[in-house]
Amino acid sequence: MDLQEAVLNRRSIHDFKEDNVEQSTLKEVFAKSSLAPTHRMKQPWNILMFQDNGKEDYADSVLESYEREGFFSSSDWERAEKMKTGIRKFLVQIPHHALVYMEKDKDAHKYEEDYAAVCAFIQNAQLLAWEKGIGVLWMTSPYLDDPLFADAIGLDPSLHKLVAVLQMGYPRQIPKAKPRVPIDEKYELRSNHFKKYSIKEKS
Ligand SMILES: Cc1cc2nc3c(=O)[nH]c(=O)nc-3n(C[C@H](O)[C@H](O)[C@H](O)COP(=O)(O)O)c2cc1C
Repeated sequence: MDLQEAVLNRRSIHDFKEDNVEQSTLKEVFAKSSLAPTHRMKQPWNILMFQDNGKEDYADSVLESYEREGFFSSSDWERAEKMKTGIRKFLVQIPHHALVYMEKDKDAHKYEEDYAAVCAFIQNAQLLAWEKGIGVLWMTSPYLDDPLFADAIGLDPSLHKLVAVLQMGYPRQIPKAKPRVPIDEKYELRSNHFKKYSIKEKS
C-alpha cells in the first residue's frame, strides 16, 4: 500500500472483529510510529495497552469515571445498571485499548510541542495499522481528564497527560469516507508582499 492510498482510504473504525492482533504486530506498528517528528528528540509518547483480562479492570475504571461525571444520574437504578452492563460489554468486546500518554512538561510551550509530537505518533500508528488491515478509533473521552481515572489505571494525574485511547482490532465494518471541506476554502496564497509598508510602497 502506498502512502497516498493509506491516507485516502483510512477510516475510523467503530466495529471490530473479536480476534486479537498479534502483540508483535502491534509493537511493530508502534515502533515504526516512533519515527514521528519530535522536538529535542523527546519522544514523549507512552502506551498502556489493555487487552484480554486487562480490559475488565479498564472497563470498570471507565464506568467508575462515568459514574463520577454523573452519566447515569438521570436514570433509575435498574436503567443505570442496564446501561453500565451495555457499556462494559461494548468496551470488553473491542480487542485492544491502547492508552497513549505523555509526561506533562511544566513549560507550556514544551507541553504543546510534546502534545503535537504524540499526535503525529498517533497518526503514524493509524496509517501503519491500516496498511496491515488493522482498524483504529482515536478517542478523547472525558475520562481521560478525570484524575481519579488516571489514578485507577496506575498513572499519576499530576505527572501524566492522557492524550488518547486508540481502540484497535481488525475491522468488521469499514464506514464510508466523510467528505472534507475543499482545500480552496482553507488555503490562502500570499506570493506578493502583503505587509502595510510594502502595500504603501506599491501605491
Ligand atoms: C483528537 C481526536 C479525537 C477523537 N475523538 C473521537 C471520539 O472520542 N469518538 C469518536 O467516535 N471519534 C473520535 N475521533 C475520530 C473522528 O470522529 C474521525 O476522525 C472523524 O469522524 C473522521 O472520520 P475518519 O477518521 O474515518 O476520516 C477523534 C479524532 C481525533 C483526531
